[in-house]
Amino acid sequence: MPDFAHALKTALFERFGETFDVDEGQSGLEELAHIAAHRVCRRYQPRAVAPDLLRLVCASALSAPTKSDLQQGDILILRENAKRHAICDLLPEMPWLRDAPVFLVFLANGHRLPHIAALRGTPFPNDHLDLFFNATVDAAIVLATFVRAAEAVGLGCCPISVIRDHAATVSEMLKLPDKVIPVAGMSVGWPAEPGAISPRLSLSVTVHEEEYSEDDLTARVDGYDRRRAALRPYRRQRQPERFGEAAFYGWSEDKARQYAMPQRADFGAFVRAKGYRLD
Ligand SMILES: Cc1cc2nc3c(=O)[nH]c(=O)nc-3n(C[C@H](O)[C@H](O)[C@H](O)COP(=O)(O)O)c2cc1C
Repeated sequence: MPDFAHALKTALFERFGETFDVDEGQSGLEELAHIAAHRVCRRYQPRAVAPDLLRLVCASALSAPTKSDLQQGDILILRENAKRHAICDLLPEMPWLRDAPVFLVFLANGHRLPHIAALRGTPFPNDHLDLFFNATVDAAIVLATFVRAAEAVGLGCCPISVIRDHAATVSEMLKLPDKVIPVAGMSVGWPAEPGAISPRLSLSVTVHEEEYSEDDLTARVDGYDRRRAALRPYRRQRQPERFGEAAFYGWSEDKARQYAMPQRADFGAFVRAKGYRLD
C-alpha cells in the first residue's frame, strides 16, 4: 500500500517549503497526493492519445461545478495534424508544441445562453460584463479540472494562453461564433519526462484568515524568491538590455520584468469585436 500521507507531505513541502500535518487516517489522501504533485508537461512521447480516453477526460473535466448550471465552458479538440500545425505555426516560440499529439482550446461560451433565450422567446437583459466573466470562469474551471483528470490517467498537459496573442486568427481558424472566445489552449500527450514541482508562494501570502492581509509581504516574497531560486533557478534573465543583469534573479524580478511589457493590450478590443459588451 503506497504511503499517500508521506507522498502528500513531501510534495507540499517542495511546493510551499513548509511541513503540513497530515492525519494518516484521513480519507482522500491518494487524490490529494496527486493534486499536490501536479506539474506542467512540455515534453511528450511520440505516442497517440486514444480518442476514447480523451473523451473520458473531457467528460470528467466537464463534470466540474458550473455557475448557475449555465454550462458555459466548452472544449474544442484538435487532432488533425494540419490544424494543430497551423496553431503551432502561430507560436514558433514554443516549438515543443508540435510534439503533443493533441491540442485543445478551452472556450468561454457566452453564445449559447442568449441563443437559448431567443429559442424560448424570453428577453435577455444580461448582455453585460457578467456574461463574459461567468463564461470565462466556467471555462477556467473546466480547464483546471481537465488538467487534474488528465494527470489522473497519466497524461501530461500544458495550458497555452499565448494563443490569445493571436485571438482573432485562432477564432477565425476555429470558426468561433460571436461571444465564443478562446480562454487558453492546452497541449496534451504522454509525458516524456517526469517534470518537477513548481514552488508556490507560501500560504501566509495567499491564504487570508478572517480579513485580507498583506503583512510582511515584502519579506515573504523575498523568502519565496530565495527558496525558489535554490530549487529551480531561472536559466535566463528577461530583458537584460533594459533592466541589466541582476546579481540575484528571483521570481518577483522575473514577473516584474515580464509585466513591464504590454501583454495582449488588444484583447479587450477582440472580446468586444466578438460581441461581448463589457459594461
Ligand atoms: C491559464 C494558463 C495559461 C498558461 N499559458 C502558458 C503558455 O502560454 N505557455 C506555457 O509554456 N505555459 C503556460 N502555462 C503553464 C504555466 O506556466 C505553469 O502552470 C506555471 O509555470 C506553474 O507550473 P506548474 O503548473 O507545473 O505548477 C499556463 C498555465 C495556465 C494555468
